[in-house]
Order: sequence, then structure tokens, then C-alpha cells
Amino acid sequence: MDLNIKVNDKNHLDIGGADACDIVEEFGTPTYVIDENRIRDNYNRFYNAFSKYYPDFKVFYACKANTNLAVMKILESEGCCIDAVSPGEVHISKMLGFSGDRILFTGNNITNDELKFVHDEGAVLNIDSVSALKRLAKIVDPEGLKISFRVNPMVGAGHHDHCITGGVMSKFGIMGLEAVEVYSLAKKLGFTPVGMHSHIGSGILDPEPFKLAIESTMDIAGKVHQEAGIDFEFVDFGGGVGIPYTPDEKLLDLDKFAEINIALFKEKLEEFDMATPTMYLEPGRYLVGDASVLLVSVNSVKESYRKFIGVDAGFHTLLRPAMYDSYHHIVVANRMDAPITQKVDIAGNVCESGDLFARDRLMPDVEENDVLAILNAGAYGFTMSSNYNSRPLASEVLITDGEANLVRERERFEDLYDKQIIPSHLK
Ligand code: LLP
Repeated sequence: MDLNIKVNDKNHLDIGGADACDIVEEFGTPTYVIDENRIRDNYNRFYNAFSKYYPDFKVFYACKANTNLAVMKILESEGCCIDAVSPGEVHISKMLGFSGDRILFTGNNITNDELKFVHDEGAVLNIDSVSALKRLAKIVDPEGLKISFRVNPMVGAGHHDHCITGGVMSKFGIMGLEAVEVYSLAKKLGFTPVGMHSHIGSGILDPEPFKLAIESTMDIAGKVHQEAGIDFEFVDFGGGVGIPYTPDEKLLDLDKFAEINIALFKEKLEEFDMATPTMYLEPGRYLVGDASVLLVSVNSVKESYRKFIGVDAGFHTLLRPAMYDSYHHIVVANRMDAPITQKVDIAGNVCESGDLFARDRLMPDVEENDVLAILNAGAYGFTMSSNYNSRPLASEVLITDGEANLVRERERFEDLYDKQIIPSHLK
């Protein structure tokens, strides 16, 4: 099994050298627990796999996966760059010490004010439409400004329809067919286009779509190089590398994956006589997904028409199961050796029937006050959480070599309304 699960000698879940039960005692539930060393290992494994075959390689962490400041600081210290999709992500990255040239901004449907903000912060703009290009030319001085374009490589893949970002149904990027024209227009407007970007989707464990996307993106880049005279400083193939969520899924063989894709990249560079641009990749999930668990407490066990294990978190805490029907492996953190005895539904505390973490899940006997660990919660977990049902946001704890530090306080009730204003006539 390729899931990241460790057990200590008390038969409790071990998270980066810390005991899950001790964490619950100190910080309560629900709490996201992040393993610092796992993030560092994931980053280095990823970086080393590709840079071994192509040294001019950079990793841009897709921080939409997890913008916890400690997580981003860890990746900053490793030398990682940032893929940002909103002015807020640019702001956070700058505040943490990422310089503008380490931030690639890939927004879609962004306003003039947002374009101007990102430009003024020094981030590199990856433009998603001709509309944005023309508007940008009016609000900044285009002369010599280095920009990039996102293209739709007409290849799409992902763990769910919502997570496929290439192909005819996708709102992202410019069409390959118009690329020469768009890069030429950018030049005419005074810009210096130096990059091309594509991203086909998220949660992909099959290497095949990546190959097709590299091929297609490079064919577009080659044409743009030859026909619009663009010398590429970088080509960015986006993110999307999946991680195993179920016990049957296997980790991608990253070394082989890198070897094959870099060979293809080099072949295409040669075919189109494109020199040696830097290769960028933008992993989000791969770097942080398996580095966190969500610890929750069992508060009720109900025998109804089905058996429900009720916990003190819900889709406001971790949306993926409700939104994408995503599988997250769940273990009893305080009795890791307990044998499987039953099939149950694991339900959250939101007032909606769809608020389930698992349906028909094989589990051991579970009792009130047991601690469940919902695994692989590090990517698109906390960042997609909300205050729905007026539930305060969970706390986050970072484990470093076995030592626990609170890195986000649990919200208080006051946080639920402190930005609201009651007009005077209602006071
Ligand atoms: N680059 C771009 C332009 C992206 O849009 C994304 C993800 C990534 C990189 C990183 O993809 P990753 O390596 O993490 O797969 N909420 C969904 C995932 C949405 C991904 C959106 N874009 C989920 O929980 O599965």
C-alpha cells in the first residue's frame, strides 16, 4: 500500500514522529496536522527526479492547494517558486519573502485592477485571453515587459470532470490555433513574450495524458517560435500529478515519468530548434497532499436504516468527499491495530444529507470519543473549507521532527461575524 501511514508502539497513528492522540489532547479536534519533513521530502523527490534529466528545471508550487504560511515558508526555504492564481496568493507569497520573479501568476477572468496589482508586485503574468492582453497593454507600460500565455493543449485529464482543464469544454487558455497570432500581437503591443504554459487537470496518476500534453504544447510552442519569432525562456507544463488516495492506488514512478517526459521535451526542442528554455512544473497536490491528516472525534454512533459514525467536522472542514465524491482513507488513530469488522457511513455535522466523509466504508468497531484520522488532507483541504452552518474554521498544527506547533488557531464564535456591520436602524 502506497498510503503514507505510520503507527507507533502504542498502536496510535504517528504523524511525523508525533502521536495523534497527544495532538488531540493538546489541540482538540477538528485539527489539520501537517508533517514538515514530508513536505520537504516530497519537494526534493520531485525536484531531483526532473533536474537529474534536465538541470534547468524549476518547481512552482500551486499554492491554491494549501496556503498555510508555515507550509509556504517550508517550500520557500527549499528554493521553490509559486504558481499563484489570485492577487491574494501573490500578496501572501510576497509577504513570505518570495520575490516577484519567483511568482508566476496564472489568473483567469481577472479585472484590470487585479492585473495592475500583480504587475506592480513584480510577479510574471501568464495571460489567459486576448481580452486580458489588450487590457494589460492599456494599464501598464508594455515596453519590454516579459509575459507568458496559457494555451489549451486540447488534452484534458483529472480525477473528476470539475478538475479537467484542457479540451473544448475548458474555459482556460488561448487556442493553439490562435497562438501565433496572439504572440505576434503581444510583440506588436510592445511586450516581450518569453513563456508558454499549459495545465491539463488535477489528480492524474496515468502518465499518458501528460505525454500527450507535452507533445501538443511543444508543437504549439515550436510553431510560435518559428512563425512569430519568439525565443522561449521557459515552458511550463502545469501541475496535476496525482497521489494515491485509496489503498489500491500506486504512487507514480516519478523517476521514469521524468525520464520519459524530459526526453520528449528535448526531442521537441531539437525538432523546432528552440535552444534550452527552463522547464517549469506546478505541482500542488503532490507536494502537500499526503503531508497532512485531518483529526476528528467520533461523537455519536447511530444505528438507523444504516449505521452512521458521526464526527465533529463536516464538508465545511474538508469539502472533497462531498464535492467530488473523493475517497479519503480513514483510520482509527487511537487503535490502529483494530481489525475491520463492519461497513459504515462516516458522517459530518453539517445539516445536509450529502455531508458524508465515506459511504459503506469498511471500518473496525468505532466508539464515541475515538479519534479518526482522515488521510491525504493536505491539498485542497483547509483552503476549501468554509464557515457554513456557522462553524468556526479548524486549527492547524505543524509537526517538526516530532514536535508540535500550533500554526493556526481554531476560530472563535466572534470570528464568525466580526466583519459584519449591523446598520444603525437595526441596532
Ligand atoms: N497549475 C494550475 C494552473 C492549476 O490550475 C492547478 C490546479 C495546479 C497547477 C495544481 O494542480 P495539482 O498538482 O494540485 O493537481 N480542488 C480540486 C483540485 C483543483 C485543482 C485546480 N488547479 C481537488 O480537491 O481535487
